[in-house]
Amino acid sequence: SHPQKKSAPQSSASCKDCRENINKVLELYSGAWKKQEASYQTFRSQLSTKCHGFEKATITQTNTPVGTKLVYDGDRKRTLQVNLEIFSTFYKGHPFPNKTWHTCAVVGNGGILANSSCGKMIDSAEFVIRCNLPPLSNGYEKHVGIKTDLVTANPSILLEKFGGLMGRRRMFVESLRSYSHSLLLLPAFSFAHNTPVSLRAFYTLEDFESPIRPIFFNPGYLKSLALFWRSQGLRTVRLSTGIIMTSLALELCDNVQLYGFWPFDVHPHSFQTLTNHYYDDRKTKTKFHAMPDEFNHLLRLHTQGVLKLHLGECK
Ligand code: CDP
Repeated sequence: SHPQKKSAPQSSASCKDCRENINKVLELYSGAWKKQEASYQTFRSQLSTKCHGFEKATITQTNTPVGTKLVYDGDRKRTLQVNLEIFSTFYKGHPFPNKTWHTCAVVGNGGILANSSCGKMIDSAEFVIRCNLPPLSNGYEKHVGIKTDLVTANPSILLEKFGGLMGRRRMFVESLRSYSHSLLLLPAFSFAHNTPVSLRAFYTLEDFESPIRPIFFNPGYLKSLALFWRSQGLRTVRLSTGIIMTSLALELCDNVQLYGFWPFDVHPHSFQTLTNHYYDDRKTKTKFHAMPDEFNHLLRLHTQGVLKLHLGECK
């Protein structure tokens, strides 16, 4: 039977009664996976033609000179003219080497990762991307690994967990130790209120001489990525961090492997109830994100051999 001919599963934000839905996913997912070089190259060149992630995903002193007018991608009415002070916080040089990585693991935070034993497989990737400062110790290592080359942080975490970095900041710096000398990617110019707290994160890491390398998302890239996915038929207010990082990985890496992407609350194989994250049960804001729809797109790319989606346990 031909996977492409089957219809995509119905999306639903809550999946309390969705065995049928999951069975459809499994039908599309089952069978040996093989990378399809031609499909991968086509998708990748579409992405890089429209979004230029390699050059433009992050703000650097090279691609964003003093005087540039940045347009906030989450609030297009707001702009910011880059002055010397802001410029001095921009990344010097280029964050990504001028070669494609052989394998990248993009680790989503889905509860499906709990007890997955995928840690070793994740850590074997040449470049490991994680989202939103997820915990890696206290027994999670075995399932999610520890290697981190790039980790994102939503300013909401900085506000909730570290008091917006307005008071003592050592805890913040220490909590980042588990990510060794990773890049810390912040959406500093997505909403105007993200900027001051992102700059405080930058200054904190510099003042404490942390090996973590802060870097900012380029709002122009995020805007073009939103348009790209809209042209693919995805309707959502905001792209999730996971699909943003997957898109970037498809430009930077020959083989893209996804873990922890499963926005449903029952396990696809055991049908056990899952928490939303592997470390807590905080819910996704369905007002902004359309993760089940995003998942259908990622599943499509899996069936086309563009990327590999890992569901279930790693052996
Ligand atoms: O900040 P955001 O809500 O985008 O992400 P998160 O909850 O910290 O999780 C990181 C990413 O993992 C998300 O952006 C999703 O792409 C993915 N995820 C998923 O596929 N299924 C889940 N149950 C939770 C997260």
